[in-house]
Amino acid sequence: MTRKLEPGKLVLATHNAGKLTEMRDLIGPFGFEVTSAGELGLAEPPEHGTTFEENAKTKAVAAMQATGLPALSDDSGICVDALDGQPGVYTADWAELPDGTRDFAMAMRNVEEKLAEKRASDPKDRTARFVSVLCLAFPDGHVEYFRGEVEGTLVWPPRGTLGFGYDPVFKPEGFDITFGEMTAEQKHGWKPGDATALSHRARAFKRFAHECLGVA
Ligand code: IMP
Repeated sequence: MTRKLEPGKLVLATHNAGKLTEMRDLIGPFGFEVTSAGELGLAEPPEHGTTFEENAKTKAVAAMQATGLPALSDDSGICVDALDGQPGVYTADWAELPDGTRDFAMAMRNVEEKLAEKRASDPKDRTARFVSVLCLAFPDGHVEYFRGEVEGTLVWPPRGTLGFGYDPVFKPEGFDITFGEMTAEQKHGWKPGDATALSHRARAFKRFAHECLGVA
């Protein structure tokens, strides 16, 4: 049985601007008083986990311990079938430059080069999924997890300038446009009360809202 969270102060445990925008959007309707780890100047903990759950827990617990408040993190990534699930939990690392900044155009090219080595040009050989695992850390150390996934196909060249990260190469199943060509509302595909959600993150939030906040 998932522990319930009462509305009040909540720290979004992320330093990633794209993710933060989406998390704020998705938590918006639930009446929390939200701040973020970045805005509070909290240190970014190193992520050494080999699963999304481990890394999500690291981030949520670090923010909870630093503030004494409940903290909600997201660990996410893209898993490409032809690359045996890579980059997966290392999705952000594949974009990292020697100076510590991130270059997602380079990361998307890198994925494409690896697909080209496998001669994966047919859409059926280019399937992938985005995964998001939310971890909610309560001030007493109790944690809960909420996972969302969305299946799709990788396109090349990248399409669209909306969203962030790998959005321009990911075309979700059942759509002709990439996440990079969708508005935030289209990418989430969800608001409280809707039966379905589209993005991995919106699907994870839908679970969180249902299981933890008691929202239908
Ligand atoms: P981490 O969860 O901080 O380890 O980073 C996950 C990485 O996955 C991000 O830096 C993005 O590059 C990528 N990612 C996760 N979710 C999305 C998304 O919704 N769109 C595009 N890229 C994403």
